[in-house]
Amino acid sequence: MKLPYSKQYIDKKDINEVVKCLKSDFVTQGPYIEKFEKKISKYVGSKYAVAVSSCTAGLHIALKAINFSNNDKLLTSIISFVSTANVSQFLDGKVDFVDINLDTISLNLEMLKKKIDKNVKAIIPVHISGAAYNEKEIYKVAKEKKVFVIEDCAHALGGEYSDGTKIGSCKYSDMSVFSFHPVKSITTGEGGVITTNNKEIYKKLLRLRSHGINKVNDKFINKELAFTKRKKNPWYYEMRELGYHYRITDIQCALGLTQLDKLNNFIKKRRELSRYYDDELKKIFGLNLSQISMRKNTAAHIYVIRINYKFFSTTRQEFMAYMRNKNIYCQVHYMPICMHPYYKNKGFRIENFPNAKKYYDECISIPCYYSLSVKEQKFVIHHIKNFFYNKKVNLLLFGGSGLLGSNILKMNKSNFNIFTYLNKKNIGRKFSKSVKFNLNIKFLKKFIYEKNISIIINASGLTSLEECESKRNLAIKSNVKIISTILNSIQNTDVKLVHISTDQIFDKKRGKIAESEKLVFKNYYAKTKVLAENQIKKLNPKSLIIRSNFFGKGTVYRNSYSDYIVKNLQRKNFIPIWSNINFSPVSLNTLVKCLFKMINRNISGVFNISSNQKISKFKFANKIAELKKLDKKFIIPKKFDNKREKIDRPLNMFLNNKKLLDLFPELEKELDLSKQIQKKLI
Ligand SMILES: Cc1ncc(COP(=O)(O)O)c(C=O)c1O
Repeated sequence: MKLPYSKQYIDKKDINEVVKCLKSDFVTQGPYIEKFEKKISKYVGSKYAVAVSSCTAGLHIALKAINFSNNDKLLTSIISFVSTANVSQFLDGKVDFVDINLDTISLNLEMLKKKIDKNVKAIIPVHISGAAYNEKEIYKVAKEKKVFVIEDCAHALGGEYSDGTKIGSCKYSDMSVFSFHPVKSITTGEGGVITTNNKEIYKKLLRLRSHGINKVNDKFINKELAFTKRKKNPWYYEMRELGYHYRITDIQCALGLTQLDKLNNFIKKRRELSRYYDDELKKIFGLNLSQISMRKNTAAHIYVIRINYKFFSTTRQEFMAYMRNKNIYCQVHYMPICMHPYYKNKGFRIENFPNAKKYYDECISIPCYYSLSVKEQKFVIHHIKNFFYNKKVNLLLFGGSGLLGSNILKMNKSNFNIFTYLNKKNIGRKFSKSVKFNLNIKFLKKFIYEKNISIIINASGLTSLEECESKRNLAIKSNVKIISTILNSIQNTDVKLVHISTDQIFDKKRGKIAESEKLVFKNYYAKTKVLAENQIKKLNPKSLIIRSNFFGKGTVYRNSYSDYIVKNLQRKNFIPIWSNINFSPVSLNTLVKCLFKMINRNISGVFNISSNQKISKFKFANKIAELKKLDKKFIIPKKFDNKREKIDRPLNMFLNNKKLLDLFPELEKELDLSKQIQKKLI
C-alpha cells in the first residue's frame, strides 16, 4: 500500500471511452473537444470554455488575450506553483507578488490593494487547494482600477465561491483557468481549460491555442486568397497573430468527459476526508490547520497541515522520512515563488513576505484523494499522531504553585513535558517534573540547553498589592528580576517566552482598553509589571505577553479570589467588596485554553485575554453567591476612594479582546462571562 498526497481515479468507463475515441476517425481536433468544452462550461456556468494542453498554456494565452506585454505587470500570490508567475515572463512582462493570509493561504487583500499601480494589467488570484477567498473584493478592486482578473483554478474544479456559485463561472473574474494534471480534481493526463463570458476573449483564445490561425467566422484579411468567385476556398486559413500550439487532443477529452461525470462524487469524498482530518488533527498540539472555515465550498484538492517543527525539536525532513517509511508520501505546496533562483535573481526577497515564509516553513500536504479509504486515512492519522506522541514539547514553567500555573499543569493533556521551577513548595509532582536549580543565568542557560526547552511560561510573581507595596525589594525580585534572568538566558535561542502580565496597568474612565493604550502604574505592583513588560519588549520581541485577570478554582497551595468570596460567605462573614472597581475577568479554564492556542500558533506580541463583559467586583461577588446559592447579604458594597486608601487602584480595567478575536474568532462564545461562571468553574 503506497499512499501519495494525491492521485487520479480511472475506472472502466474512462477506459472504454478513450478506447472508443481511439477507434473513431479522430484522435485529435475531433468532436470530443467541443463536447468536453460544452460540458465544462455547463458545469461551471460560464458562456464559453477553451480546452488547452495544460493550465500553464491556458494562463499564458489568457494573459496574451488581454494583450499583456512587456510594459505590463502581473500581481499574483507568492504561494503558488511557479507557472502562475512564469506566464508573465513568457510575454516579457513584469511580475510582483502579494503575501498570503496564513489562515486561508490566499493573497492578502490589503497588500494587493497597495501594490496595484498604473502598470498592473492583471491579477491572478490562486485558489490554493480549491478554496476561493475574497473573490468579490478582489474583483471589485480590480474593476475600479481597470485591471483584469484571471483566476488560477488549477486546484479548484468542483469548488464554489462563498455565495455557492461554481468557481469557473467567471462571476468574479474575466477568465478562470483549470488544470487536468493527474493529481487535480479530474484528469485528462495533461490538460487544462479556460472559461470566460467574454465573446471577444473567447475568440482570441481559440486562435491563440492554435498558432493564431483564424477561427469562428473571423473575417479573412487576404480576401483575394480566401475566395474564388466569392466562394470560400476550402483549404484556406490565415495566421492573423502569433499563436501557439496549445491544443488538447480528442483522446484526452474523451477521458475528461467521463471524468466529469464523476466530479461531484470526487469532490464530496475529498471534502469528507478534509473534515475528518480536521476533527482528528486539530487535537494535536503544535499542528496547525488552514482553511477550516472554507471546507464547505472547497474542491479539497490538497490537504495541508502546518507543523511547528522547531517546537518538537524535529524537521520537516524527519517527518517526511518517518511517513515515507510507513509508505505515506507527503509533499510541500509550495515554496514561495520568490525563493526560486530565477525570481531571487530578479531581486525578490522572502523577508518581504513574512506569512508566506512562515507558511512554507511549516506546510506539508498529506494524502487526500477519491480512492483513499477510511482505513487508509485512519492509518495516515495514526502515524501523524504517533510521530508527535513521541515528540513532546519541553516546557519550563515558572509559577507552578500559583493559580494560573497549577491550572496549566492540570489542563496539560500530556502534550508537554513540563518542568516546573521549584521555588519553595514542592508542587505539581503529579503533572510535571519539579526542578530545583540556582536561578541565575548560567544555570538556567545550561538547563534550557540540556533539557531542550522550547517554551518558557512565566506565571510567577508577587501579586498581592499590599505585599508589593510593603516589600518592594521582594516585589522587584519576584516580578522583575526573574524575567530578567529568563530573558538573558534565552538570548540567541529559539525558546519561546510566554509572560503573564496584568490588567492593573491600565485605567480608563470609560470603554474598553486595547493593547495599544498607555500603561499606568498606580501602585507598586503595577510598576513592577510595567518594568517587566518593557524589558521583554526590548530584549525578546518574539515573546508573547498576556494581560489578563482571571478567576477560578484555587489549589491546596493557593486560594483564588472566588475561593475567598465563597469561603467567607459560607462562614457567614461580612466581606466588603469594591463596587466602583470594574474589570473583565476570564475563567482560568478559558485563559489556559486561549494561552495554548496562542502558543500553538507561535503568536508573538502583547494580547489582552479577558471576558467580554465589564463587571464591578461587587457584582462579580454577587454572581458567585447566586451560583453557589449563598447569602448575598454578607457582601457589602464599598466605594473605592484613593484618598482614603493606602494603595491606589485603577477603577476601570475592562480589557478589549479584539486582537485575540481577530486571530481566533471561534473564541467569541467562550469569552462570555456569564457562560464561564455558569460552567461551575468556581
Ligand atoms: C496553482 C497551480 N497553477 C498552475 C499549475 C499548472 O498546471 P499545469 O500542470 O496543468 O500546467 C499548477 C500545477 O500544478 C498549479 O498547482
